Amino acid sequence: MVTINVNGARREVQAPGDTPLLYVLRNDLLLTGPQFGCGLAQCGACSVLIDGKEVRSCITALSDVGTDQEITTLEGLPGRWAKQKGLSQEEAKNTLHPVQHAWIEEQTPQCGFCQNGMMIKATELLESNSNPTPEQIKAAYTTSGISPILCRCGTYKAVMESVQRAAAIMAKGR
Ligand code: FES
Ligand code: FES
Repeated sequence: MVTINVNGARREVQAPGDTPLLYVLRNDLLLTGPQFGCGLAQCGACSVLIDGKEVRSCITALSDVGTDQEITTLEGLPGRWAKQKGLSQEEAKNTLHPVQHAWIEEQTPQCGFCQNGMMIKATELLESNSNPTPEQIKAAYTTSGISPILCRCGTYKAVMESVQRAAAIMAKGR
């Protein structure tokens, strides 16, 4: 039995230590925001935040995640924002993360498959840089991680605009 901390809750999972975290999240914990794309750390579809950093869960073994490390999946973004804003549990129920608001308002996805990674990367970026320039956004998606976050549908321009919109929403504290 291994205990991990996912979206603010301690979860016990029964899986061998070499199981990819992605499988544990999707198959054991039914958190299907992270997607299986390449399985080789080449696309970003499986990304999650671990202690605020974007990590490829397809190549991260369960045993490599410390019990006290904080894993946030796409499903955990509202709770993450609510905690950062100091919202009550009741208020948190109706909260979306600014990145999610922006993605909805910009109608960013096409097929949607890559968008988990796009939103996780946006969250990582905006938590360290609340007003990124277009160059900094581009760098976040291309050179900041183990590989670029890839989109077959070509939503890159929409993603750039969505990150800027999310930054504006965050600035208003919504
Ligand atoms: S599925 Fe993990 S990076 Fe592609
Ligand atoms: S929206 Fe289809 S792969 Fe990115």
